Amino acid sequence: MNKRKIAIVFGGKSSEHEVSLMSAASVIRAINKERYELVYIGITRDGEWRRLVLPEGMTASFAADVLEQSTWLNYTEAFNMSYIKKVADFALPIIHGPNCEDGKLQGFFETVGIPYGGCGVLASALAMDKLAAKDVFDKVGFPICKHRALFKYKYEEDRERAEQHVAEELGYPCFVKPANMGSSVGITKAHNKSEFFRACDLAFKYDKRLIIEEAINAREVEAAVLGNAHPEVAVLGEIVPHGEFYTYESKYDDDESVLVIPAKLSPEMTEEIRDIAVKAFQAIDGEGYARVDFFVGKDDGKIYLNEINTLPGFTKISMFPMLWEASGLSYPDTIERIIELGYERYNDQNNRQAML
Ligand SMILES: Nc1ncnc2c1ncn2[C@@H]1O[C@H](COP(=O)(O)OP(=O)(O)O)[C@@H](O)[C@H]1O
Ligand SMILES: [Mg+2]
Repeated sequence: MNKRKIAIVFGGKSSEHEVSLMSAASVIRAINKERYELVYIGITRDGEWRRLVLPEGMTASFAADVLEQSTWLNYTEAFNMSYIKKVADFALPIIHGPNCEDGKLQGFFETVGIPYGGCGVLASALAMDKLAAKDVFDKVGFPICKHRALFKYKYEEDRERAEQHVAEELGYPCFVKPANMGSSVGITKAHNKSEFFRACDLAFKYDKRLIIEEAINAREVEAAVLGNAHPEVAVLGEIVPHGEFYTYESKYDDDESVLVIPAKLSPEMTEEIRDIAVKAFQAIDGEGYARVDFFVGKDDGKIYLNEINTLPGFTKISMFPMLWEASGLSYPDTIERIIELGYERYNDQNNRQAML
């Protein structure tokens, strides 16, 4: 059997560049090399596409080492991105944040006509935009926390008024977030008016639209969804962050945040969360895989749907693959399943178009 050529697409013009290199290195180490031949396509912080070419005799594990040490630029050559179909059969984006996770890259794969792993354009764009996602969740009737939108031009017009609305409707503390971001970048928990202004100034560096949310005193529960038409969900996991909330530093730099798998929840609550996870994935037109994140109120036990991550962290110790591992699907098998699902979507789409 001819090996399928899988382009691992990593890096990216995003503040989650480093995180992507770690995930990509993990995937490269684990992927079944009997079945797949790898092509390494990196996107620099400046948005330039490069192909990582290994020195003579070097294997995939060398590529993984190079990414882990963030030295891949030394081994790359300029790459015209439209060549992707010439060098690969399938694109596997292991990349996060704006431009990568928000449907733009997925739109490029659609345009050149290469099958790819994970969610399509609509689901990626919706999930990445915290305001748009909350509107969909609300419409479908999923439980979400109280929130408000704040646009930059409004804030610049009258920030006192903007603050007043927040103080009256949501109260303090509140969470201030850029609508389009990930990995907690640009997010602040504001406890008072002056912190609110500082939080807005920071968040507006990343986006011109913000979401302001009531702060929930909550446990953080995550669900790993896998599938196309009939998505399945793994056992649930809980994150116990070290510190006031789950910040960028606690996600990647300190290992004191604890992952509890399976999450300690009643069977009823577990089933309810797993059910909402699948339905939320379907509501945004999810395909392939995603991690659906929840809050569970510590005081009232209420469930809140927080967000969907369509390209969740994918190192061996990341929540998504670990939840599947705990449900009986090994790390390499999870990767393989994501590739199969990408091919399935591609073939379905082409069959539908052929029938017109
Ligand atoms: N409304 C909220 N109430 C309590 N904690 C929150 C709230 N929103 C965010 N957080 C905390 O901030 C972290 C990051 O926020 P999140 O919405 O998940 O953004 P990101 O896309 O950056 O992961 C969460 O994991 C949680 O610890
Ligand atoms: Mg999150």
